[in-house]
Amino acid sequence: MSFKKKILCIGAGYVGGPTMAVIAAQCPEYKVTVVDVNAERIQAWNGDHLPIFEAGLLEVVRQARGRNLFFSTDIPGGIREADIIFVSVNTPTKTFGHGAGMASDLQHWEKTAHQIVAHSDRAKIIVEKSTLPVRTAEAMERILQENKKGIRFDVVSNPEFLAEGTAIQDLLHPDRVLIGSRPGESGRRAAEEVAAIFAHWVPAGKIIATNLWSAELSKLVANAFLAQRVSSINSVSALCEKTGADVDEISFAVGSDHRIGPHFLKASVGFGGSCFKKDILNLVYIARSYGLEEVAGYWESVVRINEYQQERFVRTIIDEMFHTVVGKKIVLLGFAFKADTGDTRESPGIHVARKLLEERALLAVSDPQALGNARRDLAGFSGQVEFEPDPYRAAVEAQALAVITEWRAYCDLDFARMFASMRKPAFVFDGRNILDHHRLFEIGFNVFPLGKPAMTHFS
Ligand code: NAD
Ligand code: UGA
Repeated sequence: MSFKKKILCIGAGYVGGPTMAVIAAQCPEYKVTVVDVNAERIQAWNGDHLPIFEAGLLEVVRQARGRNLFFSTDIPGGIREADIIFVSVNTPTKTFGHGAGMASDLQHWEKTAHQIVAHSDRAKIIVEKSTLPVRTAEAMERILQENKKGIRFDVVSNPEFLAEGTAIQDLLHPDRVLIGSRPGESGRRAAEEVAAIFAHWVPAGKIIATNLWSAELSKLVANAFLAQRVSSINSVSALCEKTGADVDEISFAVGSDHRIGPHFLKASVGFGGSCFKKDILNLVYIARSYGLEEVAGYWESVVRINEYQQERFVRTIIDEMFHTVVGKKIVLLGFAFKADTGDTRESPGIHVARKLLEERALLAVSDPQALGNARRDLAGFSGQVEFEPDPYRAAVEAQALAVITEWRAYCDLDFARMFASMRKPAFVFDGRNILDHHRLFEIGFNVFPLGKPAMTHFS
């Protein structure tokens, strides 16, 4: 079969896999190939047990796989035949050298640029899908234009805004698709080619054209704004606990102002996920590198409040359980960084678990999707931690339940049954404010919500 265009995506991760699956499903006349250095991942994409858990993903993959969607480890072959190359490799925080702990580690990104040059024999459009520091495209262009073959490459920025757990819906119904390009005829044409892909299913008004640097920076700023809202409400939760105010009532009252809006105002044990912290730290690093210390400090505080909130949650558990958790069994209800995903990257659960284990607590970690990752995250603590998918079994002989992830199913648990099998006094620490606290108190639990008055049976 001959295809109208050939699209390649380098990087078959959380972004590359679902994004390309949706493009292939929506654009049957385009051949879409996803390549990765990780052969195991590619094998999983070609089977029924996909490497990531995402509602509706398997159906979309099945719709297009083998028709116009292909997963492969043949990176050179993929580059050679492609007209448009999306680069969706990971860009984690640097862990070494200059900028360690703050800047983006661009080694995977740069490697792909060299691979593209080595295996190309005609003009191509290169699309930045990964989240990158502003002006990365400039460095990319320099590497690409160094080719001795006289090949033209146009670099376009098309950052991704999908959230895990809702990736397919976000991709099918995006708030906007951002396409940043260079001024001039060639840049405009490249942007139009990329826009033409999304125009298959995204209304024209939602496809926004900007300059390259605005597209790159918008991505970092969008994540920083979202995380800032979570840190803002989490900072208020601490104040609520001191004053008797209720953080959920405040979220509702404040979010009812249409200028503020209701989203991302749910107090929590802290935000996690692979990107919020990494992208804010990157923003901080960039601001600082331009000498903008006040700007850097402003955004850095969003991360600091997040660390404070996680620490505060652990502190409450220890203090309220009579200042010691040595030998006490505590159940972590949830370990994923949010509901509807098995991803645990930067999950507050990791911090909470490690701190409690350092205090010599015994943990039972329960999660419907994330226990595989939890095992890896807590390797080295064997003997002190058990991994139990069934919350009822996890609760046997435990002294406390701590909600880390807002899985809907936790609201429907039979807490009277759990209470009956637990040691007394029994505690609930609700790090997501999802449970019925009055009912838990009536059952006999001592209840510690976030940003709300505690309910205890102690006189
Ligand atoms: P990921 O780690 O899940 O996937 C990246 C993949 O790239 C890995 O499978 C890795 O093996 C592969 N890779 C690395 N170097 C390669 C190379 N030289 N050749 C071929 N493959 C290579 O990462 P992700 O979560 O998909 O994130 C990718 C980018 O998208 C990041 O910049 C991230 O910030 C951004 N992003 C992520 C999300 C999200 O929800 N995870 C959302 C929006 C944007
Ligand atoms: C986030 C953004 O929402 C996406 O737009 C972006 O594309 C993505 O990062 C990225 O760049 O990787 P994601 O990390 O998947 O998506 O998850 P979110 O739904 O944004 O939640 C992030 C964290 O904030 C979670 O730990 C969540 O539990 C927490 N959160 C969110 C709260 O604590 N309170 C809220 O009100 C909302």
